[in-house]
Amino acid sequence: MVQLLHKLSIMSVNGNDRLLKVIKNPITDHLPTNCKKICFSYDAPTVHLQTWAREALQPGQSLVVAIGAFAHGVDDFSDSYVDEKIGVSEYPLSASVACGKLCCAMEDIWGIL
Ligand SMILES: C[S@@+](CC[C@H](N)C(=O)[O-])C[C@H]1O[C@@H](n2cnc3c(N)ncnc32)[C@H](O)[C@@H]1O
Repeated sequence: MVQLLHKLSIMSVNGNDRLLKVIKNPITDHLPTNCKKICFSYDAPTVHLQTWAREALQPGQSLVVAIGAFAHGVDDFSDSYVDEKIGVSEYPLSASVACGKLCCAMEDIWGIL
């Protein structure tokens, strides 16, 4: 993350793939059309993620998920652009566990083993 903040982008070691980059606001300029924008939050109503995603997503619709990267503070970083806030556990999670739960849920839905 320090390297990202210094160089504004991170390239893969063995290729020309860009893994991360800092983007210019507004963030909505970078999102796909026809996408559902949600935020993961401990303070939002808790849902079973697989069930929620199967019901909430239209065929062909992309999903954009905002997950907080700060250890402390209110989860209001995405209030201006998300359609919905959801909790995916009754317990507070680290950002990496929240990302892991999202990946597992989407693997289930897409049939990826
Ligand atoms: C370490 S938490 C951030 C903690 C928060 N800023 C605080 O001090 O309470 C990292 C992120 O994981 C996600 N997260 C944590 N617990 C969650 C939960 N129970 N359900 C959904 N997302 C959660 C949120 O997006 C949160 O911003």
